[in-house]
Amino acid sequence: MLKDMTSNPKKLVADWQSLMRTFIRPEDDAARSTLLKYMEQILFGLHEFLKTNVGFTEEQPLKVLGYRFTDTHLNENPEKKLAEVITDLIEDIAPNAVNVASPYFVGHMTSAIPFFMVHLKTIVAALNQNVVKLETSKVVSVVEKQLQAKIHRLIFQKSEDFYREHVQNAETTLGTFIEDGTLANVTALWVARNKLLAPKPGFGGVEAEGIHAAYKAYDIDRLTVIVSALHHYSIKKACGVLGIGNENVIAVDVDDNNRIDMDALEKVIVQIRKNNRTKILAIVGIAGATETGTVDPLRQMAMVCSRHGVHFHVDAAWGGPTLMSAKYRHILDGIDLADSVTIDGHKQFYMPMTCGMVYFRDPTHMDAVRYHSNYVIRPGSADLGIKSLAGSREAVSLVLDSALKIMGTRGYGLLIEHGIETAHEFAREILSRKLFQLVTPPELNILTYRICPEPMVQKLAPATLEQRHEINEKLNHINMTVQRMQREAGKSFVSRTTLTKGKRDGEKIIVLRSVIMNPMTTLEILRQILDEQEKIFFSAFRNSDIQSLCAL
Ligand SMILES: Cc1ncc(COP(=O)(O)O)c(C=O)c1O
Repeated sequence: MLKDMTSNPKKLVADWQSLMRTFIRPEDDAARSTLLKYMEQILFGLHEFLKTNVGFTEEQPLKVLGYRFTDTHLNENPEKKLAEVITDLIEDIAPNAVNVASPYFVGHMTSAIPFFMVHLKTIVAALNQNVVKLETSKVVSVVEKQLQAKIHRLIFQKSEDFYREHVQNAETTLGTFIEDGTLANVTALWVARNKLLAPKPGFGGVEAEGIHAAYKAYDIDRLTVIVSALHHYSIKKACGVLGIGNENVIAVDVDDNNRIDMDALEKVIVQIRKNNRTKILAIVGIAGATETGTVDPLRQMAMVCSRHGVHFHVDAAWGGPTLMSAKYRHILDGIDLADSVTIDGHKQFYMPMTCGMVYFRDPTHMDAVRYHSNYVIRPGSADLGIKSLAGSREAVSLVLDSALKIMGTRGYGLLIEHGIETAHEFAREILSRKLFQLVTPPELNILTYRICPEPMVQKLAPATLEQRHEINEKLNHINMTVQRMQREAGKSFVSRTTLTKGKRDGEKIIVLRSVIMNPMTTLEILRQILDEQEKIFFSAFRNSDIQSLCAL
């Protein structure tokens, strides 16, 4: 493929013999040492990047990068050799990527991963199994089914007999791996939709006949999904994709602890039930809200769902792995009563991108999304692709299965505990500083706060709605500016989001959001991040700005 032309060493041409060499395994010492050299180049080259860069690197502004990457032609002949491509990736791309592994990068749900994940992921790429069917994965599908039973047990805690019956049962399905948390939520609601609008005499089911025919067959005009206002936008996406309509996601207010308000939930249900042409497809509980990390009262919600005969889905994409901490698993009390649970591997299982999963309490529920074809996933086979939104997919289950062997649930539990406890220490630090206001205290390892000088806090409490609006607008501007400037300085990164405070007037406030999952992130580092924010605030806003703000 890559052959030097002696007259012009820069010119490479596609060449069959060289091309073949890239498919054949290293057979002699020379080939082996070349292969090792490349792996070494990758591992140590990237290690250097991860060591020396912090968070959102700003070697080149995005605008400049945009100009650099505008050539839309595919080259007929090879441009570069593998070694050069690797060098480019390490020296040119990586420095302009984001070092999410930095302990100063505490803004998102993407963070450092244990080094062994890279090795495990390499095995997955090298084996290149396709778990859609046994013919391209064999034992890997079997291992995946076993792992599904293990994670199912972590969530649902069924009996020994239950797992003995289902662990390798080709007919039943405890869950499925899927690209990400979004598609896991789509899968859960897909199953719930198909169960609710199931085939019956004279009707072939919503999956076969579509949503219009289903509404006619069931004599309804509308389906709704009920979830707290802090839901991840994937719930809306799911309702869009499934033909339910994202406007039919009903967002229930949260209480003062950012958990779904149970009284408000009951009222919404009563309201919907008044109209017998509207049905509730599912009620979704959140176990680790994206913006605040808070966990809904899952047990209470499960009881409400059971009383009304409604599918109860728990979006534990973020918080699910908390179940591995003996100290904090009680926060997710009631998750075992869910009908379905989303949980992400690339979040708090510390896996490389990406690994979504969804589990079902009842091992027959996924029958509602069963598909067959003539050449694979035939009736009677144990192909995992029979009940899966994905077609071809990689064997990420091998990574998670191995990681669990290396870390044990206790190891994961320690990571979870570090995150939660550091977040609590951070919250105390924020409370001790006069410039900051803690907006949502951590329940798990996410918290939000904002720059709000103490005099403003005093002023906000008795203020009228109009005065509050004026003060908050100014504070929003300050927080947005400081967050942006800190990101651009490239030393550390917290994210920002907009929260709605107060049910009555729905005041929108911009807050700084910290997600503490990197075990290298210490309280000292978090203090430095606050120090930097203070410094930016005092340098960006003149004394007169601050005084006029306090005078509002
Ligand atoms: C609670 C929750 N659910 C679902 C998702 C979607 O996950 P993904 O980004 O893997 O699609 C997220 C992502 O942040 C999340 O926080």
